[in-house]
Amino acid sequence: MAVGFIGAGKVGFSLGRYFTGHSIRVSGYYSRNPKSAHEAADFTGTGFYATIDDLIRDSKVIFITTPDDAIGQVWGQLKAANIYDRIVCHCSGVLSSEIFSESSAPRYRCRGYSIHPLLAVSSRLDSYKELSRTLFTIENGAKERAQRQADEIDAMFRACGNQVIYLRPQDKARYHAAAVMASNLVLGLAQTAAEELQNCGFSRKEALDALVPFMQRNVAHLENHMPEEVLTGPVERGDVQTVCTHLETLTATNREIYRLLSGKALALARKKNPERDYQVMGEKLKDKEDV
Ligand SMILES: NC(=O)c1ccc[n+]([C@@H]2O[C@H](COP(=O)([O-])OP(=O)(O)OC[C@H]3O[C@@H](n4cnc5c(N)ncnc54)[C@H](OP(=O)(O)O)[C@@H]3O)[C@@H](O)[C@H]2O)c1
Repeated sequence: MAVGFIGAGKVGFSLGRYFTGHSIRVSGYYSRNPKSAHEAADFTGTGFYATIDDLIRDSKVIFITTPDDAIGQVWGQLKAANIYDRIVCHCSGVLSSEIFSESSAPRYRCRGYSIHPLLAVSSRLDSYKELSRTLFTIENGAKERAQRQADEIDAMFRACGNQVIYLRPQDKARYHAAAVMASNLVLGLAQTAAEELQNCGFSRKEALDALVPFMQRNVAHLENHMPEEVLTGPVERGDVQTVCTHLETLTATNREIYRLLSGKALALARKKNPERDYQVMGEKLKDKEDV
């Protein structure tokens, strides 16, 4: 069951190297720019393909690892070629397998999947090392849990030792928004805190050097605990005056970020300390509390 890649970028390089490292046969790479496909083939010890037709001939499973916006166009190219009885996958977080419309038609008899590693794949050459600890979500068009059967794609990731979670097609956008919140938006939060430290006289570097270990230790607690178990701070303590002082000090977007996320912290505080009265805190944070 050889796997072929269309799109020799960060995810194509990384998945190809990961698969070959787990004894999964990879036929090789086709890409828009032949140089990228050659480099990926060299990196993974697999083949270079000058045409999509040649890649399809040698591959049972085809991963489209182009940018999201090119997936529909590549699927059009695949349909125009002979893709009978193949498995077609893309790696977009937000798009579902519904982009492979007509894949199950008798003339194609293909199965379509969207398969997403929950990892920021930032490097063509190094990110594969992080894939062994990565959760993969798989979506194969099945709308109900009972229809999501174990199959060779599921078996492939489990054989690599990865946890796999199945998604419904209608949940992809929400799932990806959650992934963005936990990844990219954390950077936005770090930037917000750094801005305020800079307002206190820190250089940007001093601010980030101070914040990174602080944030890392906090997140590390989540490995073994629920968020409410490790929550500290003025909202959890019920220090209303401290929270009011913060709200008076901050301005514009940073104030709003503080207020909205404090609403989330308040819901956690209520879970942690059901006996405490957080009513005044809730009023100070207005109606932004979100349970
Ligand atoms: N990076 C992440 O953190 C991450 C994480 C999870 C999922 N994903 C998903 O993985 C997919 C790939 O992302 P990426 O970060 O690997 O992107 P990327 O580094 O930009 O690589 C995409 C590659 O696709 C090639 N390409 C573009 N248009 C093409 C076409 N029409 N036909 C053939 N090849 C084409 C480009 O190749 P040339 O060099 O040949 O021009 C480029 O190297 C996306 O669907 C993305 O949403 C990304």
